[in-house]
Amino acid sequence: MSIITNLEKEIKESIKNAGYELDNFSLQLSSRPDLGDYQINDAMTLARTYHKNPHQIAEDIKNELEKSPKFTNINIAGPGFINISLKDEYLVDVLNMIKEDINSLIDKKEPKSIVLDYGGANVAKALHVGHLRSANIGEAIKRLATLLGYNVLGDAHLGDYGRPLGFVVLEIKKRYPDLPYFDESYNGDYSEVELPITNEELEKIYPEASQKAKDDEAYLEEGRDVTAKIQSHVPGYYDLWKKVVEISKKDIKKVYDELNVHFELWQGESDAAEYFNELNAIFEKKNLLEESEGAKIVEVKEETDKAPMPPLLFVKSNGTISYATTDLATILERQKKHHPDEIWYCTDARQELHFTQVFRAARKAELVTENQKLDWFGFGTMNGSDGKPFKTRDGGVMSLKGLIDLVNEETLKRINPDTVPEEEREKISRIIAIATLKYADLIPYRGTDYIFEVEKFADLEGKTGPYLLYSTIRMKSLLAKAKDIKQETAQVVSTKTEKDIILTILNLTNILNKSLEAKSLNDIAEYLYKLTSQYNKFYAENKIITEEDAVKRESWLVLTKIVYNINMLLLDVLGIPVPEKM
Ligand code: ARG
Repeated sequence: MSIITNLEKEIKESIKNAGYELDNFSLQLSSRPDLGDYQINDAMTLARTYHKNPHQIAEDIKNELEKSPKFTNINIAGPGFINISLKDEYLVDVLNMIKEDINSLIDKKEPKSIVLDYGGANVAKALHVGHLRSANIGEAIKRLATLLGYNVLGDAHLGDYGRPLGFVVLEIKKRYPDLPYFDESYNGDYSEVELPITNEELEKIYPEASQKAKDDEAYLEEGRDVTAKIQSHVPGYYDLWKKVVEISKKDIKKVYDELNVHFELWQGESDAAEYFNELNAIFEKKNLLEESEGAKIVEVKEETDKAPMPPLLFVKSNGTISYATTDLATILERQKKHHPDEIWYCTDARQELHFTQVFRAARKAELVTENQKLDWFGFGTMNGSDGKPFKTRDGGVMSLKGLIDLVNEETLKRINPDTVPEEEREKISRIIAIATLKYADLIPYRGTDYIFEVEKFADLEGKTGPYLLYSTIRMKSLLAKAKDIKQETAQVVSTKTEKDIILTILNLTNILNKSLEAKSLNDIAEYLYKLTSQYNKFYAENKIITEEDAVKRESWLVLTKIVYNINMLLLDVLGIPVPEKM
């Protein structure tokens, strides 16, 4: 149990000893730090339950709290607000407990198994900025949930199925008609066939094919035919499709790796499609399918709906399965393979209706049990200064690689040539670029849109990734410089700034819980900035290494070590990489 939760338990116990019973008690950092560190407002609620004067209740509680060696300056304000502060001796103990074990800031949850769907990259199409937030937020939520004790499997859920792939294969056929994939008499091993296509070419093929399909009816027909061939595993077509997936996946993985995003599972929509027949049988048996203009649909309206709720399209009129059905089949697949307690989805906010339909249909068909939770959390878009989704200078879709390059141009300019040798600059700058991009992406509440402002994001001052990295690396080098000085045990807390830092540190437990609850990283990102700024203030106020009072010096080094460890822990939770130097 965390230090703060223990304190809360102890205070709740004191309240009980004073003769009052509370269901829940949580310690609130004071909004008037001049009056105390924390504020206990429960006397007002208790006054209603016990029909007593709140001031009297506050008095009773105060008398009990005074028995504890941890508290000081307990005073009552107004009608019965109790202000309470932590004793310096106790703050020293707190530092030593945290130094021993950083887990004393964490409340572990009951273990739960979760599949988290947060990739959504599409094969044979470049990853674009739309995939950035899903990767950043999803990865960080996965790390946070894991830290708090859940067992989370992240799934890339590759878009490797359906019409786009049919067009890619068709376009390859047009460009390289002599490949053995299209030769019906070929009976060699397809896995030995060299495909003369680079990933760069592959990324150009889809947009071109898609344009041709718009302009040319015959091409469109042909594309549909090829899609059907792939989906029914016609040799050659099916093998070429697999090859395309393989090439593209390698490239997608490279970008995700650079973003410090790592999936446990690399399942694709095509894997789920294998479960379609079984899914279809379940829906048939439960009589959930209706005919509508040649298509099959599932009614998902509920009486309480205020907004229109269209039916879920199960099988399209041309016989192919829809995006929604793919997600239903994926639920069935995940059930069979992992039987998770919960399935979480992190996608663009514009997919809300889609997931409402999918979850309702899944419940109707009892693909999951009542106890299993399906949870979707959406995010807003990253916009350009025009307020529309961020584009390239000429108005095209911005690829994720292009975006990283763009940020890298800025971070490279700001590298300190005195500390980073020429040959390391590019590598370090790219790490800083990723940190820049990720921090800027995680600091707004996930549901809101934000504007991409590269110069602001890359600044070494302010709420930015580079500021956090720079400060954290400086803590590390301070500790390294002090490696021959004792930095074992805190013994005193001598300044107001130190005390503020310790209160912030203790608050980490709440911040972590709150962030997981909201499935948003903004509180953690803000917290990192706050803790770092408070530490930097302390750093500016004191000469740590050259301090002559050995007791103070050792205590300050312990504090530095703790803040450094917390920063590293939280940067890791946010999936933000830290360079060796900068
Ligand atoms: N591939 C989709 C896209 O690029 C996103 C997939 C989101 N996840 C899901 N389970 N539907 O828009």
